[in-house]
Amino acid sequence: TRIFTVAIDGPAAAGKGTVSRAVAAHFGLAHLDTGLLYRAVGAKVLRGADPTEAARALDPADLEADLRTQEIASAASRVAVIPEVRAALTDFQRDFARREGGAVLDGRDICTVIAPAAEVKLYVTASPEVRAERRFQELIDKDPTLTREGVLEDVLARDARDMGRADAPLVAAEDAVVLDTSEMSIEEAVGAAIAIVGSAL
Ligand code: C5P
Repeated sequence: TRIFTVAIDGPAAAGKGTVSRAVAAHFGLAHLDTGLLYRAVGAKVLRGADPTEAARALDPADLEADLRTQEIASAASRVAVIPEVRAALTDFQRDFARREGGAVLDGRDICTVIAPAAEVKLYVTASPEVRAERRFQELIDKDPTLTREGVLEDVLARDARDMGRADAPLVAAEDAVVLDTSEMSIEEAVGAAIAIVGSAL
């Protein structure tokens, strides 16, 4: 049994999720998409709950709903500025990061706040236009009313909120390896991430 943590941060739709899942599968590590925690809180708030209460009462079953909508993403980034919400979600993430057998966590503050001692730290990014186009392609079937301009606006608004907040803002940790996927295919981004993690093993 070993403890080995891979911490991955980056803005919305940069390829974090895909890279994280692939790294976890390749090295046999558990994976936690920490955005889902904030999305689950955001979804409860859209249904009228108090954000801090919702974060404190979060249940694994809450993560199983369909949380991948623009509306919930936006609600998530609004609850994520509340320090009490972040504090309520911290222990679960830290415990997950130190679990035996190793773990990959992806989010906005994993390298900086949740697991600053992680063996590997990655900052996965891409230009706003590339990220908006990826998100558009991902969501257009589910929501045919989406426009490219609207998705880009959402991406930029979420970036501004995530990077501009006082508590745990999104920033590339000083010692994180930056992976810019703007010009990369999924396969190339995954290959680059696996090479970086592999060299730290
Ligand atoms: O990664 P995802 O797009 O699912 O995250 C949704 C929102 O949750 C982000 O825009 C961000 O505001 C918040 N979040 C966060 N810290 C994390 C993960 C997500 O603040 N570690």
